Amino acid sequence: MCGIVAYVGNKEAYSLILKGLKRLEYRGYDSSGVALLENGELNIYKKKGKVSELEAGLAGKELHATIGIGHTRWATHGEPNDVNAHPHFSNNRKLAVVHNGIIENYAAIKKNLISKGHTFQSETDTEVLIHFIEDIQAETGDSLESAVKLALKEVVGAYAIVVMSVDQPGQLIAARKGSPLVIGIGEEEYFFASDATPIIAYTKNVVYLDDYEVAVVRDGKLSIQNLDNTETIPYIQKLEMELEAIEKGGYDHFMIKEIFEQPRSIADSMRGRLRSSDSHLQLGGLSNHLDKLAQAERIVIVACGTSWHAGLVAEYLFEELARINVEVEYASEFRYRNPVIKENDIVIAISQSGETADTLAAIELAKSKGATIFGVCNVVGSSIARATHAGAYTHAGPEIGVASTKAFTAQVTVLTLIALATAKQKGTISEEVFRQLLTELENIPDKVEKVFENASKIKEIAFIFTYARNFIYLGRGLNFPVALEGALKLKEISYIHAEGYPAAEMKHGPIALIDEDMPVVFLATKDSSYEKIVSNIQEVKARKGRVIAIVTEGDTLIPGMVDFVIEVPETHEILTPLVSVIPLQLLSYYIAVMRGRNVDQPRNLAKSVTVE
Ligand code: AGP
Ligand code: GLU
Repeated sequence: MCGIVAYVGNKEAYSLILKGLKRLEYRGYDSSGVALLENGELNIYKKKGKVSELEAGLAGKELHATIGIGHTRWATHGEPNDVNAHPHFSNNRKLAVVHNGIIENYAAIKKNLISKGHTFQSETDTEVLIHFIEDIQAETGDSLESAVKLALKEVVGAYAIVVMSVDQPGQLIAARKGSPLVIGIGEEEYFFASDATPIIAYTKNVVYLDDYEVAVVRDGKLSIQNLDNTETIPYIQKLEMELEAIEKGGYDHFMIKEIFEQPRSIADSMRGRLRSSDSHLQLGGLSNHLDKLAQAERIVIVACGTSWHAGLVAEYLFEELARINVEVEYASEFRYRNPVIKENDIVIAISQSGETADTLAAIELAKSKGATIFGVCNVVGSSIARATHAGAYTHAGPEIGVASTKAFTAQVTVLTLIALATAKQKGTISEEVFRQLLTELENIPDKVEKVFENASKIKEIAFIFTYARNFIYLGRGLNFPVALEGALKLKEISYIHAEGYPAAEMKHGPIALIDEDMPVVFLATKDSSYEKIVSNIQEVKARKGRVIAIVTEGDTLIPGMVDFVIEVPETHEILTPLVSVIPLQLLSYYIAVMRGRNVDQPRNLAKSVTVE
């Protein structure tokens, strides 16, 4: 999820790696570090905070090395601090590793290594991996490369790693699965990085490593094999993109990159937490609190903006699945009332940044009244994460675009898991439905991927409405919060006024707004309120409203009634928001781009509202 830079050649490794890590800062991170082989000594320097703080701490030191590995961390296991920062040593301190991703089965591996006498400095999954590699090498007597392959065959999860050894001064071993890694090929020098930005200044010849491949640079030569030792011929490409384009992964903006990242970020938010084959659902930090959740009389959700919309989805989920009364509160309103909070109330705080002032204040107020607070945050070790009694991270990775997209779907995914786990604990859901929902959740990343096939059609629709002055978004049930989210997305990046409403509310006033100049977006997927939505569409069409309908694939009724149709794959009703929101994110993005807006940093907005 974050940044790797590694180098072996004839230049000063430290300054090159540091420059490279600064190139990767745009990805967001919480700490950084570097391992250098200096005069036969493997040294690690690492620190919480910005790369510049690491640099300041090393100012004046003579750091001479021609091989090194560097890292910017986006914490997933163990809060941001100096010890949890990467690189990490093996037990015998002869190996060092940097890692992007999540090793899901690290706890079991760690337990086994501890029983063999390994001692660990950090709380990270990464440190376990390098100890595991060391242990395999010790047990088998094999080469380091072979030990890396054997270890990677055992681990479950996502990784991009680079490993170095004090005993092989000219060797770097890199591997990836689910996290990107690029190799730069220079004149008698090699670079490894999470993307090409740290490399492009030195060479345009790159190789993009594929999943399950292991690259080894040894004595100035590069070889690439897969985990089964099958040699692959490196496919050397010439970098054509400019620096800025590389940062965005070839996309024009971070927002569109993050929209298209959602199949992976949704998968990451479930990673290590569910397995439908044996109805396994494990929510780490919340596992010891499921009783409390199951016995709660009421759940109060506090959040702001898009996170508040995720809270509205959660309201439907907890009521439907766990039969628990839920109230969703704007944190900014909650904190200034004198709310009635009882001791056995559960408060769930939802926040991407984990730093939103209103949400933090709402937590403190609820805590002062004796409630138990759980957090759903995207930033490990953030203020809100630390202010709650327990919680679950969304693992969406850094969200750079101010308009939240992948964080929203990750929040909804994690909240769905929490509602399912609570319902299971409470016995309000059958084993069969539980397994069905877990299975369908595992299918969601592919279904989100399928929505992207409509991207060009959505772009055409956006073109038609580029100069609309108003929009109305309508939905029912779980699609009502999606309507609100779609309206917010359009508002905040295109500056077009847009309102989200429960579709049935049209008759109570807003229908007066309907005429041929009012575009109306209907969330009209096949669900329990489908017939009602059809009637609402007829009401709008009868008043010449122009209708864009988000429908379930294969719908044969609504396309004949409306002006524009966007299809999404069928899914279980309670998982609908995860697919129905995607077209709305794309529609807002394309309209905003056509209006020439600053999509990633819209006017007046901040990524995290840390003030009242
Ligand atoms: C969403 O697109 C907005 N950027 C904003 O509404 C955001 O959701 C809100 O400020 C809450 O932020 P948080 O999730 O970091 O607490
Ligand atoms: N899971 C590792 C950690 O928490 C790596 C996180 C990252 O991708 O930066 O340290």
